[in-house]
Amino acid sequence: MLTDKHIILGVTGGIAAYKAAYLTRLFVKKGAHVKIIMTPLAKEFITPLTLATLSKNPILVDFFNPENGDWNSHVDLGLWADAMVIAPATANTMGKMAHGIADNLLLTTFLSARCPVFLAPAMDLDMYQHPATIKNMEILKSFGNYLIEPEVGELASGLVGKGRMAEPETIVDTLEKYFNSTHDFAGKQLMITAGPTHEMIDPVRFIGNYSSGKMGYALAEELAERGAKVTLISGAVAIKPIHKNIQLIPVKSAQQMLEACQLNFENQDAGIMVAAVADYTPKDVSSQKIKKKDEVLFLELKQTADIAATLGKQKKLNQLLIGFALETSNEIENAKEKLEKKNFDFIVLNSMNDEGSGFQSDDNKITIITRKQEIKTFDLKPKKLVAKDIADEIILAFKNLK
Ligand code: CTP
Repeated sequence: MLTDKHIILGVTGGIAAYKAAYLTRLFVKKGAHVKIIMTPLAKEFITPLTLATLSKNPILVDFFNPENGDWNSHVDLGLWADAMVIAPATANTMGKMAHGIADNLLLTTFLSARCPVFLAPAMDLDMYQHPATIKNMEILKSFGNYLIEPEVGELASGLVGKGRMAEPETIVDTLEKYFNSTHDFAGKQLMITAGPTHEMIDPVRFIGNYSSGKMGYALAEELAERGAKVTLISGAVAIKPIHKNIQLIPVKSAQQMLEACQLNFENQDAGIMVAAVADYTPKDVSSQKIKKKDEVLFLELKQTADIAATLGKQKKLNQLLIGFALETSNEIENAKEKLEKKNFDFIVLNSMNDEGSGFQSDDNKITIITRKQEIKTFDLKPKKLVAKDIADEIILAFKNLK
């Protein structure tokens, strides 16, 4: 998988820099071409001679090469690379990367790189847990960089905890998986609705539901990783999309979600309706906070628009529409009815009766029902893996469109 791949290995100044030697050796053994950029401090931990010998390339540290007057072009390096790996990535380097500081060759190359960037953090556990480090890692992930989680174990300080750089084998494995992962959604534009809707009662209260958005967001990440451009129309949730190919459109109410969908659906190859949309909304929204008065309060509700059914009517022959159904009884029959009524190409059924799945949970157990009345059942698994099964079914549905 790594044969002839161009890899820039960035080595920063931490004790785990010694592992960069073994990592370089593994990359070269796999057939990759490796160019190494060290930060000035990294040279204190491992000699450039060791890494130059193993990578079979001169080590880059400075902007200029004093021997022949050349300059090391960060732009050329960034364009040369198929992947950039920073291992170890210290808290200091990550902090600078997160804020666009470019005071060494590694950082300027990071800013110029168009390739995926993988970071393997390594530091003491207190540094790793510091809110500043956590925030910087979140920022880096939000730019679309990949973090290879450190491991728990004994640290150079003698303390035991999380902060030990991932083993070189794990880093190589992550890259192999990346290059091996199919890009079967390349060129596809997909719209996903996710999360709950909030229906305003008065300025401080709303009607909502327990949807966490986890399933819709997991699906958005999976499809983006497989090459799709994703428009994620999401109600209020506590999570954020990570992949750079996901465009987030935040909404609150069912009406706002409908408007965002109608604005976007026409240009999409598919709409995937994961959101838990309120079926009813207050008939009148009070402009002032409703005061506590009578023993009983009556709230008059009116139906919201059915977003999925609206798009089902607008759907063109070359577009897919995929629905979700959360049922508590008569599951298959109800789901089949929704498939027909809303003109879905297939529907993903979650049963509230399956233990460990549903709203808020990290796992899900689904059944997929297709237009040809096929019923496919899947085991309970993490939502990330459920997303893969759904993505595979979408690929099949695209093939059936032709
Ligand atoms: N849906 C939608 N707009 C709505 C209600 C539902 O787009 N106003 C979508 C959901 O995102 C889901 C599918 O329709 O993909 C089924 O949602 P569900 O709430 O199970 O169905 P309802 O039609 O609301 O039926 P009921 O609540 O009566 O079971």
